Amino acid sequence: MYTVPKLADYSPEALEKAAHELRTALEGEAAKVETEAQLKDFRNRWRARRSGVVTQITKVWLGNAPPGRKPNVGFRVNLLATEIDEEIEGCRRRVAALDQLQAYDRSQEKTKLASERLDITLPGVRRPIGVKHPVLRMMDEIVAVFKAMGYSIGKGPEVETDYYNFESLNFPPNHPARDTQDTLFIAGQERKAARDRLMLRTHTSPVQIRTMEQQPPPVRIIIPGKVHRNDPLDATHSPVFHQVEGLAVDTNITFCDLKGTLDHAMKALFGSSVKTRFYPSFFPFTEPSADMQVSCIFCGGKGCRKCKFSGWIELLGCGMVDPNVFEFVKQYGYDSSKISGFAFGMGVDRIALLKYEVEEIQLFFQGDVRFLEQFA
Ligand code: DAH
Repeated sequence: MYTVPKLADYSPEALEKAAHELRTALEGEAAKVETEAQLKDFRNRWRARRSGVVTQITKVWLGNAPPGRKPNVGFRVNLLATEIDEEIEGCRRRVAALDQLQAYDRSQEKTKLASERLDITLPGVRRPIGVKHPVLRMMDEIVAVFKAMGYSIGKGPEVETDYYNFESLNFPPNHPARDTQDTLFIAGQERKAARDRLMLRTHTSPVQIRTMEQQPPPVRIIIPGKVHRNDPLDATHSPVFHQVEGLAVDTNITFCDLKGTLDHAMKALFGSSVKTRFYPSFFPFTEPSADMQVSCIFCGGKGCRKCKFSGWIELLGCGMVDPNVFEFVKQYGYDSSKISGFAFGMGVDRIALLKYEVEEIQLFFQGDVRFLEQFA
């Protein structure tokens, strides 16, 4: 740290050298001043009345100067005092600027904190409690009716192989019956064996086979699920829809069991006054096959627009399990000379359209809350 030296002689050169050393020290110390406290120390060191550098050079340099040199030394001391004051003023300005910068930073920090603050006294955002989607609700209702009759629930994959979706259900390769279910295939499967090729299942019936592979008879199973077909969208068709499939296999299962079971189920779903009837039909995996109709739930059978004035509404396909189907699961204990079974499959969305009197199937899949909240 700089201390004021005694001057050896008072020649202009010696004075000049001493002044230069003082200035170098002054600038060096000034450069380090950044805070209010440092500024105060700095000002005291150079300007304090009793012992500051200015006081010292006045005493030591001017006080000891021979009379002839006093004007010169006095002029130099004054000049240095001015330079010291300017340096102090420079430091003061810098400290003030730094201070302002820090204050700005602090206020930024404050507004940031304020905007991030959590006001726990504000009321919370109310999230409406959802309700079951009408299709899911319908599906659960149908499943519940069969559960009450002792059926258990089966599941299977939505991406299915040709084998389960068609072949094992007695749709031979290239058979025209496959055209009744416009299929969405997974691309790039050409190198696989035909039966291993993947597709989106077109019905829940493949789960019949998967179930029989998993357990020996007797079987009573109800299978809800999503299925896909390459059907263009219209008021009653959607490429994605839902089915509930049923399968019962045991000794001595007859068509009477099928009729009784489905008749009971329809009365449980639509009310005890509803009637059922069975019409001949065809499915590769049932023999005989039937379409089941219910008396119109809107007009009670008198005839109206909904039932196209026939008094009846077609609801599902069913039949006795074809012995050819049991052939595919023979090794799992299904011997068609000893056992028999019935199966049925229904479109859930179609039944929901009827039951909730909805005009367009798309409404079920558009996710419009204004529509859906009517089921809350
Ligand atoms: N899987 C058929 C379809 O999607 C519906 C069906 C008909 C299922 C008869 C059955 C059945 O189990 O026995 O068109």
